[in-house]
Amino acid sequence: MKTSISVIGAGYVGLVIATCLAELGNEVTLIDIDELKVNSIRNGVSPIYEEGLEDLLRKVNMQVTTDYEKTLPSKIIMLCLGTPSDESGINLNYISEASTKLAGILKRRQDYSVINIKSTIAPGTTEGLIIPSLEKSGKKAGKDFGVCMSPEFLREGKAINDFMNPARIIVGEHDRTSGDVLCQLYEHFNAPIMRTSIKTAEMIKLASNAFLATKISFINEIGNMCKQLGIDAYDVAKGMGFDDRIGNKFLNAGVGFGGSCLPKDLKMLIAKAQEINYEPKILEAVLKLNDEQVVRMLDLLKKHVQLKGAIIGLLGLAFKSGTDDVRDSRAIGIVDALLKEGAIVKAYDPLAIKNFSQIFPQIEYVTIEQVLNSDAILILAECEEFNKLDYKGRIVIDGRRVAKAREAEIYEGICW
Ligand code: UDX
Repeated sequence: MKTSISVIGAGYVGLVIATCLAELGNEVTLIDIDELKVNSIRNGVSPIYEEGLEDLLRKVNMQVTTDYEKTLPSKIIMLCLGTPSDESGINLNYISEASTKLAGILKRRQDYSVINIKSTIAPGTTEGLIIPSLEKSGKKAGKDFGVCMSPEFLREGKAINDFMNPARIIVGEHDRTSGDVLCQLYEHFNAPIMRTSIKTAEMIKLASNAFLATKISFINEIGNMCKQLGIDAYDVAKGMGFDDRIGNKFLNAGVGFGGSCLPKDLKMLIAKAQEINYEPKILEAVLKLNDEQVVRMLDLLKKHVQLKGAIIGLLGLAFKSGTDDVRDSRAIGIVDALLKEGAIVKAYDPLAIKNFSQIFPQIEYVTIEQVLNSDAILILAECEEFNKLDYKGRIVIDGRRVAKAREAEIYEGICW
């Protein structure tokens, strides 16, 4: 059934969701306080790099505005605000400000609408922060308006496919009526719908990402042992993965996980555990091991090269291939350490140089050939084009399993 939907927050999740919902024929209004971003989207220019998104954006009919008033006709209002981590922990300001603004609109609404939270938040945040903010409107959740928490599980680089073909749809509902409205929106998706409480939905999102991160740190731990034992961690992962209780996905050993989700969501869960005086042993170990993979990469490099004054070439700056996103990329810790050791860094990435140069304006961004002419090369992302290069005669430390690099004169895989 076609619905009138407002999406608040045109970041990664909000922009992808709004565009996909419009593509599915819903009447969509996308709202963001950033005027520049709104104008760019209105002109069909996506502020983020995501395969297929710009074409879809130019195809769909969607209202894009900074004006919260435009949410008035919408039956469903999706809150897709960022919850980034900063020095003080998780920043809930954006979602808190949006809830307060929305309360001003709700105050004047006579009809029933459902507020659906899509942002990644710790268990208890919707009931503890968002609903009280919305009820400053004088309206009651579950009576005058509905509330749901329905997390997204999009992967960068595959976001449109992941939205259109979800593995599952989680509907955390304040009450049955709220959930009914959301289930109607998703009724034509070919995926199981799980209805549950709001707190449970919040935890499902964090636990899912924490488990993916745990799988990666687990295989990296096994991989680190394999390295010392002369075993290939990828063969081990293959043997493990035949068992569908284990599954063969997310067992690619390497320099570790990055991005705007896995590290942050782990930290959010650890902070929540500490808040309730629970010691999250596994979660803390997952994060610690992930940080140590960067040090391992550098130790392997130092086995072969004196860093002071050496030219070190980097292949891959984004947190993974197929994106321009450098948030919590492994390359950040690597460059930081190389500069501290007095190395000269020459870096290449097919998409992420612009974003990475915001963090490290002082290093050289060069062509792929110039990286190959360095004293040693570190591979930090599994980009297709890296598998076509000539590595003969080079020193290569591989953190992402690029098969062609094995032809190098000196080749070290971090876990193989
Ligand atoms: C992740 C989750 O997959 C997605 O469901 C959630 O909604 C958001 O967070 P994303 O951040 O796009 O998505 O990245 P993902 O593809 O999961 O990769 C995360 C990191 O793990 C990357 O740095 C990647 O290089 C690394 N990784 C992934 C491994 O090191 N080994 C693997 O086997 C898989």
